[in-house]
Amino acid sequence: MNRIFSGMQPTRQLHLGNYLGALRNWVDLQNSYECIFCVVDLHALTIDQDSEVLRNNIREVAAAYIAAGIDPDKNILFNQSVVPGHAELSWILSCHTPLGWLNRMTQFKEKAGKQKDMANLGLYAYPTLMAADILLYKATHVPVGEDQKQHLELARDIAGAFNRRYETEFFPLPEPQILGEATRVMSLRDGKKKMSKSDESEYSRINMTDDADTIAQKIRKAKTDPEPLPETVTELEARPEADNLVTIYGALAGQSREQVLAQFAGAQFSDFKKSLVDLSVDKLAPITSRMKELLGDKAEIDRLLKKGGERAAAIAEKNLNDVKDIIGL
Ligand code: ADP
Ligand code: NA
Repeated sequence: MNRIFSGMQPTRQLHLGNYLGALRNWVDLQNSYECIFCVVDLHALTIDQDSEVLRNNIREVAAAYIAAGIDPDKNILFNQSVVPGHAELSWILSCHTPLGWLNRMTQFKEKAGKQKDMANLGLYAYPTLMAADILLYKATHVPVGEDQKQHLELARDIAGAFNRRYETEFFPLPEPQILGEATRVMSLRDGKKKMSKSDESEYSRINMTDDADTIAQKIRKAKTDPEPLPETVTELEARPEADNLVTIYGALAGQSREQVLAQFAGAQFSDFKKSLVDLSVDKLAPITSRMKELLGDKAEIDRLLKKGGERAAAIAEKNLNDVKDIIGL
């Protein structure tokens, strides 16, 4: 059986990178797989959170999933902390994970910054919790952006180590699915950093809930160089900020970068940016307004999450009991 697991953190608002690199691709997958879509609120605790803000962000991410086209009846949609199995399996797996494997994780190095000793243990253990999220449901496929590839490889390594240690084939090795034209959307301020919720600069990202004026302002301010758009992708790739904007345009329009350049080669960025604003507003506005509608009835979102949580817990409980049997608990 093929089963999908994927999730997003309820830290600040979802952005265009989350949408193009992950969420939008989930919508197509729900027709061909059994899908579990999670709001990974335990992961969000690796960053300092205000409790009221966190509570609302959980609902906002759930609303974004539904507004983007995820059907909460057809799929399991829930938030991680309501299923205790995530934390429990995470502990069990962490006792089977050598520190050396975690030391290789580049996201920890980026997020911990220079003061590594001040970073919390949760941030360091983040990838083992992520492995538990996936393996708790014996998921076979995990659609993610490119930034999560290393974590997914670790999840495969942990599953493999567990299987070898107990001479079992209990855990399937989860396959990453890195889909779409924009698997790594970069910051609008710095072409070398990925667009991320944790970036301090609001101008680094377009949020899914930004209004038309804000989107226009952010795209106008996006870093570029003075050259017009080139003819070829090879020339484009030498210019990371330009490449990023063309990639975003292509992903929103459902076009390759070649197709975008065929239309805009020789154009000034100031003009291209106007088209990009129109396209972004066009694609995001319907999702944003649906999100607002959904967030108008918080009790209904809570009810949907609770129902999804019960469905998730039924699968999780069985698998966790099997794991405990295998290891002698
Ligand atoms: P963030 O890194 O902004 O905190 P999450 O860790 O919650 O976002 O990631 C949720 C999903 O969005 C993951 O599948 C991740 O790979 C994807 N994603 C995050 N940032 C980007 C990006 N800049 N480009 C493409 N996909 C991204
Ligand atoms: Na991420």
